[in-house]
Amino acid sequence: MFEKKIYRSDMLRCALCHDAPCTAACGKLDPARLLRSIWFDDEINAAASLPDINPCAGCSAPCEAACVRSHQVPIKSLITRLYDQVRPEIEVPVPSDEERLKTDLCEFPLENPFILASSVVSSSYDMCARAFDAGWAGAAFKTICSIDIREASPRYSAVYGSDGSIIGFKNIEQLSRHSVEEDLKIISELKKKYPSKFIMASIMGKDEAEWESLARQCQESGADAVELNFSCPNMAEGGLGSDIGQVPYLVRLFTEAARRGASIPILAKLTPNVSRMSPAAEAARWGGADGIAAINTIKSIMGVNPHTYVSSPAVHGMSAVGGYSGNAVKPVALRFIAEMAQNQALKGMHLSAMGGVETWQDALEYLLMGAGSIQVATAVMQYGNRIIDNLKAGLNFYLAAEGLNSVKETVGLGLDTVSSTTNVLERDTILFPSFDHKKCISCGRCALSCKDGGHLAISLNDKKKPVLDGNRCVGCHLCILVCPQKAITPSQKRIHI
Ligand SMILES: Cc1cc2nc3c(=O)[nH]c(=O)nc-3n(C[C@H](O)[C@H](O)[C@H](O)COP(=O)(O)O)c2cc1C
Repeated sequence: MFEKKIYRSDMLRCALCHDAPCTAACGKLDPARLLRSIWFDDEINAAASLPDINPCAGCSAPCEAACVRSHQVPIKSLITRLYDQVRPEIEVPVPSDEERLKTDLCEFPLENPFILASSVVSSSYDMCARAFDAGWAGAAFKTICSIDIREASPRYSAVYGSDGSIIGFKNIEQLSRHSVEEDLKIISELKKKYPSKFIMASIMGKDEAEWESLARQCQESGADAVELNFSCPNMAEGGLGSDIGQVPYLVRLFTEAARRGASIPILAKLTPNVSRMSPAAEAARWGGADGIAAINTIKSIMGVNPHTYVSSPAVHGMSAVGGYSGNAVKPVALRFIAEMAQNQALKGMHLSAMGGVETWQDALEYLLMGAGSIQVATAVMQYGNRIIDNLKAGLNFYLAAEGLNSVKETVGLGLDTVSSTTNVLERDTILFPSFDHKKCISCGRCALSCKDGGHLAISLNDKKKPVLDGNRCVGCHLCILVCPQKAITPSQKRIHI
């Protein structure tokens, strides 16, 4: 049921507008919401929400004329595909409530597992309030500190996917630019206005005394938890952020200090700029932390200009190593979450996972690898708070379709299948690819990749359709990955060697 029928690539020219003109022009449906559902892998909910009769039939498509990219997005045919291809496959009713999404973070009840990650998206009262109103269950507030923060301009850079969306994001931003007093006031006002939302104060001290006093002040201001920023890789001063997270002794020392200041739950936010996260996580536990948040951003350099030789973002002819985030970092982050979830020394600690979550399926991957809650920064920067709609609806439907009563039941379900080494894998069978010649457009990409990057097992027949040589195929599946038509699948046929 979760096999995608419509892909982002089918709606590449859609700009995912704010206050989209297609919706204003339609009057019968909300095309912008339907297209967003396709983009964010939530097409089933979109199809299920449609009225019985397709209003696109016989319609002159004013939506397509009104589109900011006039007539370049096939809105009418995308909606019709929701009717014809997706709707018939919906096997269970869309849930009428969000009870299944309820969970908790160190015993604080969350209405769903999604919270804003400490970053620019959670850096003011208004931004948090708008996110809460949109349906986010809470926020890790932008890191509070007494350091005089002066940011560089520009401060971001991006790697783009072929669909034009940002897949990797670099920032050289530091921490909150408000005074500690201003941030504490925001936290206390947010807590008063939104008592049921989870508000976690991210903090960074310069020494033990400051870690202790910041934690104390956050608790006194009404924060539900404190997140210790041992992980920002962009600090202008040395000895802070990821410099601490790389030294388990310091992680423990400063966690102990924060614990002296506060009795509310403490999460240590750890850096991925290490080979294993467990030493720092165990140190945090010994220091009194109740949970781990990960990952913060990965140290990176990107976009070296061929003329100026300066990488991006360039600030007056110079750049600096900065933090990489966004969808591209998800595999790295998942590896760290699984490592910690499998570590018996950390058993019982809450794992709040982040790194590249854009869709409910991204979030589910983290849950299956042992995370108890999900944080998001870059995707909100790129697409806005509204992504919470598809995160919640998609995950809720998945749970219902799988017969699961609570999101908690998914936590760690995939852990038994992950090994940190490849020596456990069975190596006696080969799983061949199977070619769907009807879907195949005879581009020959499978044969090309197999010839130059595989094992010379695919040739093309007189119609340029692929033919497999079973004696040469090693079952690597490179052909499946490169096929632009998704016309190749793993076959049921295995050979034993
Ligand atoms: C612009 C920007 C600012 C950030 N500022 C902070 C911060 O102040 N404190 C912190 O702990 N993490 C900060 N982060 C890291 C995020 O909280 C998060 O760990 C990381 O971006 C990975 O999640 P994502 O891929 O959803 O963005 C920042 C990230 C970005 C992109």
